[in-house]
Amino acid sequence: MRIGILTGGGDCPGLNAVIRAIVRKGIGEHGDELVGFRDGWRGVLEGDTVRLDLAAVRGLLPRGGTVLGTSRTNPYALDGGPERVLATLERLGIDALIPIGGEDTLGVATRLAEAGVRVVGVPKTIDNDLDATDYTFGFDTAVGVATEAIDRLHTTGDSHHRTLVVEVMGRHAGWIALHAGMAGGANVVLIPEKPFDMDAVVAHCLHRFESGFSPIVVVSEGATPTDGGMVLSDGEKDAFGHVRLGGIGAALAAVLEERTNREARAVVLGHIQRGGTPSPFDRVLATRFGLGAIDAVHDGESGIMVALRGTDIVRVRLSEATAQLKLVPPERYAEAEVFFG
Ligand code: F6P
Repeated sequence: MRIGILTGGGDCPGLNAVIRAIVRKGIGEHGDELVGFRDGWRGVLEGDTVRLDLAAVRGLLPRGGTVLGTSRTNPYALDGGPERVLATLERLGIDALIPIGGEDTLGVATRLAEAGVRVVGVPKTIDNDLDATDYTFGFDTAVGVATEAIDRLHTTGDSHHRTLVVEVMGRHAGWIALHAGMAGGANVVLIPEKPFDMDAVVAHCLHRFESGFSPIVVVSEGATPTDGGMVLSDGEKDAFGHVRLGGIGAALAAVLEERTNREARAVVLGHIQRGGTPSPFDRVLATRFGLGAIDAVHDGESGIMVALRGTDIVRVRLSEATAQLKLVPPERYAEAEVFFG
């Protein structure tokens, strides 16, 4: 078969491991020809391809980013976009497409599958907010980076008797903040799912100072105060309509410094959470997703996504996975609230 592969949305540690697994099994076991599309859906729209043979995937397992490049291009936001996608696939004789992406990239895949394209999706996002899978690769790596940062900030914060606010990624879901906050022993964890009360955050920080230690506040970039008073975005939107976030950490630190009468500093981890080599867990999950995807294509599947349920790789409907985001349930946050507010 001639199978197309693309990576869309934010890059994520493990994307290259998926590509390698698809190519290795596709060529080694099925005699497939693999075609890479550059920069997500842009490459499909423009027919911009790269040949993916065995030599092209050598050494890819530990490499961060994506050798195919990525973009947030949305064919459905462009005049004649879906028609151009279909024309490229027809012209290049692509029998099936394996898009690797999050809610946006796989949302496009869902619609293309409905239009008759043979599609098997692979879930990725460091935010871990894609539904119908227990975990996405990239999340474990991001949590590892954020946890190491929190560990380091404890010692410098305590030395200077100041509050340290750590802003982590998480537009709609607070999974990175919750897991890194738990793993790193943060004193306050603020997530988008639960608007926070500034008075309570101040009280937690003061309490921590009283016990002789400095507070660590972990905040998702998408968290908001209950009074909604902070300006968090520069107003820019991407092709899927998402505003660009950032700034909550600095805004929080300014309020905390004033109200606790102690110095407060903000650290924004940003793209450090996404770049670099994937953790062993993410390499294994990404590899298993890639193997599962190529097998699904050869089983004649379409309109599905590979997913992790427990320890098994399963197949779920793409429409099920992209219907809604997987947010942190209130009871999961409450479970750890004894450690933070
Ligand atoms: O979608 C994943 C994510 O990590 C979000 O948490 C974050 O808002 C976004 O990517 C930022 O990505 P970029 O800087 O590439 O727009």
